[in-house]
Formats: sequence, C-alpha cells, structure tokens
Amino acid sequence: MSFRVSVPATGHEFSADDGESVLAAALRSGIGLPYGCRNGACGKCAGELLSGEVRYANELRAAALEQAGSGKTLFCQALPLSDIEIRVREITAGRDIEVKTLPCRVESMQLLTHDIMRLRLKLPETERLQFLAGQYIEFLLKDGKRRAFSIANAPHDDAFIELHIRHVPDGQFGDYVFDGMKVKELLRIEGPLGSYYLREDSPRPVILVGGGTGFAPLKGMLEHAFHVGFERPIHLFCGVRAYRDLYMDELASAWAKQHTNLVYTPVLSEPMKDDDWQGKTGYVHEAIVEQYPDLSGFDVYMSGPPPMIRAGMEVFYAHGLPQSQIYSDSFEYSDDALKAMGITKPSG
Ligand code: FES
Repeated sequence: MSFRVSVPATGHEFSADDGESVLAAALRSGIGLPYGCRNGACGKCAGELLSGEVRYANELRAAALEQAGSGKTLFCQALPLSDIEIRVREITAGRDIEVKTLPCRVESMQLLTHDIMRLRLKLPETERLQFLAGQYIEFLLKDGKRRAFSIANAPHDDAFIELHIRHVPDGQFGDYVFDGMKVKELLRIEGPLGSYYLREDSPRPVILVGGGTGFAPLKGMLEHAFHVGFERPIHLFCGVRAYRDLYMDELASAWAKQHTNLVYTPVLSEPMKDDDWQGKTGYVHEAIVEQYPDLSGFDVYMSGPPPMIRAGMEVFYAHGLPQSQIYSDSFEYSDDALKAMGITKPSG
C-alpha cells in the first residue's frame, strides 16, 4: 500500500510505499528535501505535517526532538499512515544545501585504468552528505591546500562518496593517492560545492560531454536521471586519448542498452595502433557538432580538462548553443598539475 504526499506550496506530489519514510520517498521521486543524517539525529529534515497521519520509524532521540521543536515532524523518520500534506523547504539549487566539513574514511580503492583510481569514502555513521548530482567536494589537506573532485555517485545512493582521481604529472595529491594512500585512512572533506548539477526542470534534450575523469560527475547525473525516471533524450559523449584511457565504458554501454532515452558515444582523439578502434575518432566537440550541427535546442553539460572545455564552448556557441544552456566544470586538476601541463586555471 502506498500513500500520496503533497507539498501544496510547490505543487509537488509523490507516493510513499509502505514503511518508506517521507524523506526517502521524496528523494526517490527526485524531490529534494533537506537532510543531514537520515537517522533522526540532526533535525535538518524537520517540517510541518499539515494534514494526515504519520508514525515514527524508531524511537526519536531527545536531541532530534529538541531540534525539531514543537509541532515539527522529522521527515526522515516519518512513515505515512494516510495521504498527507506537508510544508517543508525544498532543495532546488546548490545554494539551498548546507556546506559541511566532515571527516571521512577511505572505504575502498580500485584502479580503473592505468592512471585513474576510484575512491569510495565513508562518512561517520551519524552523517550523510546531501548534494545535487554533479557537484563536487574538496579534500582539506594537512598543509592547508585543497583538492577538488567531482562526486561520481547519485544523491540517493549516499552511503559512500565515490570519486575518480587521475594521476597527472606532478600532481602531488594524485602521487599521494597512487603511492601513499591506504584503505581506512582518515581524511577531511568540505562539500557539496559548485553549480554544476543536472537541471531537471528544463524541457530540452541533454548532451553530456566528459573528457577523461570529467565522466565522474556525468556518471552521478546519469544514475540520478535513471533513478528519478528522467525521460528527456540524453546523449553521452566521452572523449579520451586512446582506448586505455576509456573507463567504465562497459557500464555506459550497458546503460545505453537498458535506457531507450540514452545514446552513448565514446570518442578517441589518438587511438593507438593496437586499439583496433572502430568507433569515432577526433576531438569530442567535433564529433558532437558533426552529429548535431544546430545546438540551439539542447542543454549541454561539459566536464573535463580546461582546454577541452574552452574548445568545446567556442565550437558549440558557433553552432547556435545559447550561453544559458551550457553548464561546465573544468576544475579537474590542481593548480600544481595545471602548471605542470602549462595550463592556466580559469576563474569562476
Ligand atoms: S535527517 Fe537528520 S533528523 Fe532527519
């Protein structure tokens, strides 16, 4: 049995399954309600029950009751017993989410290619990081420096934070991840950060462009899109040098088979002889405009190294893409690494 949950202030409605909390049901339906811990401890998910009945999943902690205040309901614990109406602040943009500094533990490390490591980070039991698909976190290092990495998982799947870290020449943090980091190690992060996230209220078809580990935020966006039943057409382009640089290619190919609204095109700029590559070659932005010479009706999301972003923007604007329909995230490398590659980090 399921119940309707309505938010009259925004006109949003979603259904909560038997035994499903209002918060879990909202997130499953792509409605962003605020939260901090998802276990009744922080009070961040508190709102008002305007009509209908709920019961609580567990005995509430005293601290949560205090924070929730009288007349408030903790939606991470509230299980509807009837159709209900609620009043709650909805999260629709990155600025609506509290940025937190949190300790985390390295849960697993997996080499995805010769120079890309997948890290999974675990937060303390009482904490969850709320974020929008595509945002990033920063590591706060002991020397005071920060290193930014996109979150590669979707917001509903928030038990761990997944990052894809490339080992770039003279990139000190990459050296450390590849040569010194150990599972169970403790680190500190700040996040979520950034305005690079999937805009779900646009009617336009979407082109996602990832260069190298620029695939990471796109993976988070796609997993989120599948989770909420996003129906707009999506074309994912991944640009890398050679086949050995292409990662999670099987995952993206499998997604394209499972989801009729997704097309996946990997593009190699410098395939090696042994690659025996039959697919697209050249620069990824060229492959895009070859297929879509008129980009005026698309939303384009682009993440990857700054030269790819710059080249892409120039060409996409020339093919009719309005500035308001392009979203980009070019902060893939640290200042040290960019300097080593002779690249100046753009501002903004
Ligand atoms: S999210 Fe922390 S109390 Fe509900």
